[in-house]
Amino acid sequence: METTLVLIKPGGVARNLNGEIIRRIELRGLKITGLKLLNAPRETVEAHYAEHKERPFFNDVVNYLCSGPIVAIAVSGPNATKAIRMMMGATNPVEAEPGTVRGDMALTIEDNLVHSSSDPEAAANELKLWFAEGTVG
Ligand code: CMP
Repeated sequence: METTLVLIKPGGVARNLNGEIIRRIELRGLKITGLKLLNAPRETVEAHYAEHKERPFFNDVVNYLCSGPIVAIAVSGPNATKAIRMMMGATNPVEAEPGTVRGDMALTIEDNLVHSSSDPEAAANELKLWFAEGTVG
């Protein structure tokens, strides 16, 4: 059993895609074990994307995540991180397979609808940023 993080970015919330994305996660057999809609504090977003700090898109992606409400979701199940990564599709939506969230609902890397943890270790670190200890499960 593993728990991983999904963020629905401001574009996804604005397009009312929360239900569709959560529906797909639940249909797959994964469990929603944490869920909240929030205006993300800038310092949380910066910590979340710390590994990209030197990349040219860092400020843009942080500004974007802070531009409107997001939905943070803890998702649990066997191989949850890999299952979610595959379901969400390639980071660049034009390379994402049809049938994936990004392949079906997104077009640009700047607004690729969702974030998902890259591996179980990243998931554990990211979950600590978005959910207070003891509140997931
Ligand atoms: P995400 O999985 O949230 O992780 C980092 C995000 O930065 C990524 O999805 C994209 O939305 C965003 N981003 C913007 N430009 C780029 C880029 N050139 N390469 C990778 N990620 C980018």
